[in-house]
Amino acid sequence: MIQSASSAPAAKPILEARGLGKSFVVKRSLFGRPLATVGAVDDVSLSLMPGETLAIVGESGCGKSTLGRLLMRLIEPSSGEVFIDGQDVTHASHTAVRAQRRHVQLIFQDPYASLNPRMTIAQTIAEPLMLHDIVPAGQRARRVAELLDMVGLRPEQADRYPHEFSGGQRQRVVIARALASEPKAIICDEAVSALDVSIQAQVLNLLKNLQKRLGIAFVFISHDLGVVKHIADRVAVMYLGKVVEMGTSDEIFAAPRHPYTRALLSAIPVAAPPSHQRSRAARLHGDLPSPLSPPEGCRLHTRCPHTRPDCKSVSMVLEVEAGGHANACAFWRELPAQDAGEIAREPRNPKLEKLFAAFEAMAARPAQTVTEG
Ligand SMILES: Nc1ncnc2c1ncn2[C@@H]1O[C@H](COP(=O)(O)OP(=O)(O)O)[C@@H](O)[C@H]1O
Ligand code: SF4
Ligand SMILES: [Mg+2]
Repeated sequence: MIQSASSAPAAKPILEARGLGKSFVVKRSLFGRPLATVGAVDDVSLSLMPGETLAIVGESGCGKSTLGRLLMRLIEPSSGEVFIDGQDVTHASHTAVRAQRRHVQLIFQDPYASLNPRMTIAQTIAEPLMLHDIVPAGQRARRVAELLDMVGLRPEQADRYPHEFSGGQRQRVVIARALASEPKAIICDEAVSALDVSIQAQVLNLLKNLQKRLGIAFVFISHDLGVVKHIADRVAVMYLGKVVEMGTSDEIFAAPRHPYTRALLSAIPVAAPPSHQRSRAARLHGDLPSPLSPPEGCRLHTRCPHTRPDCKSVSMVLEVEAGGHANACAFWRELPAQDAGEIAREPRNPKLEKLFAAFEAMAARPAQTVTEG
């Protein structure tokens, strides 16, 4: 969490995880005894402040979606606690959890899968209004029209069905439905990953504008560091269920400390000829170990370019500095000086460049209308 220097009372986190863990039993004996478990999330502590965007990044299978579902208390944690808007929902009753969950909404990668094909857009968006009794029945149609307008869709599109919309428009419908609950936070799990680059930029721009207007906080889960760089205030990097580094976007992208973060950054595809590409110093060896039996000690030691014998026995704890930059490499101070400048200067993938250009062009004007087909 970023510490405020002012004497004003510190804002309360909207979401907070304390030592959160989740194991899934993936194999049982004939008598139901667990034979194999996956530790999808292990001892994660983080908080989301009002109006900020916290990105969660890492390779596929590192526990990002499980963490997102835990933060909404959609699944029961194996250990640790979850607080929504200051209230401990870890062991709260179903009714109490449901009431708190209204403050946090979840958006997935595939908008088509999260919309009922038999419901019109108006019915879809009105559902949470009804469920949480947000506006009286007589005012629902007007509220649906307002919500459609907020996400750049036309009120006359309200009677259409999901199949009549493009992918980007469907994601806007999903966002409108999430907004209907008047959430304080939205968890976006790979929410733009399936969209074309220019549509991604439009949806990201919409999310940014909504954040500015409504003060909504976002947990932005993504494997795409290029996108994260443009949307996140803070970034948490995960590896095999653990947060290995957390800091402001600037700290993570310009001065990454943990070898895994450095490796992720060096893996952003480049368009330059081999002579201009980054040295292999930051790259990881080998494959991702099985999450069924993660390595002892530092979980990265089987792949880390800086591994040493001690790494097999160190405990993997996030060391948090005064400014909030945290990292879990026990030896980060002894690592070779990071070529952060190299990362910043590095030529990027032309597809990403197009996305950044589109995003920045749109960010410059407060566009509200959807231009996609
Ligand atoms: N319901 C489940 N049952 C068993 N294993 C699961 C379940 N959900 C996730 N996992 C496992 O937990 C790990 C983390 O998965 P996930 O959170 O989906 O990662 P990510 O979103 O980063 O790709 C993976 O090894 C995955 O196979
Ligand atoms: S503790 Fe060792 S293996 Fe782990 S990241 Fe640091 S140097 Fe690499
Ligand atoms: Mg996922």
